[in-house]
This record gives sequence, structure tokens and C-alpha cells, in this order.
Amino acid sequence: MDARSRRKFLGLCLGGLLAGAGGAVLYPLIRYLAPRRDGSARRTVTFPAAEVPEGAAKFFEYNGKTAVVIRQKNGALVALSAVCTHLGCVVQWQKEKEEFLCPCHAGRFSAAGQVLGGPPPKPLETIPVTAANGTITVG
Ligand code: FES
Repeated sequence: MDARSRRKFLGLCLGGLLAGAGGAVLYPLIRYLAPRRDGSARRTVTFPAAEVPEGAAKFFEYNGKTAVVIRQKNGALVALSAVCTHLGCVVQWQKEKEEFLCPCHAGRFSAAGQVLGGPPPKPLETIPVTAANGTITVG
């Protein structure tokens, strides 16, 4: 193997390593920021009311996208799409502030889904929610 072939071979190996390392870093980041689109679409979702205590949020899959139900400090239940209306990142619940924060561009939403600040053009989509006999039903 001459010097030129060796250099070409080493260049290919290094390129492969860099492509693998880039994929290992980018894939988890994209999965974290992008809403899920798997086959878990359901028309209604139920879970025990005890899973959503006062001030808490429960994230779940609803019709193939991430949704969230929260119980406000006044006891009211709210179910919302957790997909930001700006560019589609999944919002995070800030329990202390009782608001949602979008990690992508710092969009902020109230516990009812109304825009509080940042670039989101409209509120989070609301989803029907009921509670009866210790069970929360969304959808
Ligand atoms: S995607 Fe949420 S603020 Fe931009």
C-alpha cells in the first residue's frame, strides 16, 4: 500500500468515525425536541386521578403526539397538546411558575395554554378532559 492509498484509507476511516459520532449526538437531541409520531394513536386516554396531584403535570401520547394534563392549584383539570405552536417542540411544565416553557425558543404558555411570551403565534391546543370515580379521561 503506497502513501497515497494509505492516506485515502485513513481519510475514509476518519470520515466514517465522524459521521457515526455526529449521528450519536444528533439523534437523541432530535428525539428529545421533536414530538413523537409513533403508532400509539388513541382516541381517549385514561389514568388514575392520583397520578395528577395538585400542581402536577402528566405527559402522555395522544393521537400520536405528546399531550399533557395538569391539575391547577385550584383543582381544575386542563388537557393540552404539548406541541409548541411555533415550530413544534415539546413544551416543559414549570411547576413553581405554573406555566409551560418551550426549550427551543423560550416560548411561554399559561397553565391554560395561553401564550405568555416568546414567538408562539397561538395557544396550545386544548383537549377535552373529564374526571369521575377516580379516573381521568382525556379525549
Ligand atoms: S418551537 Fe416553541 S418557541 Fe419556537
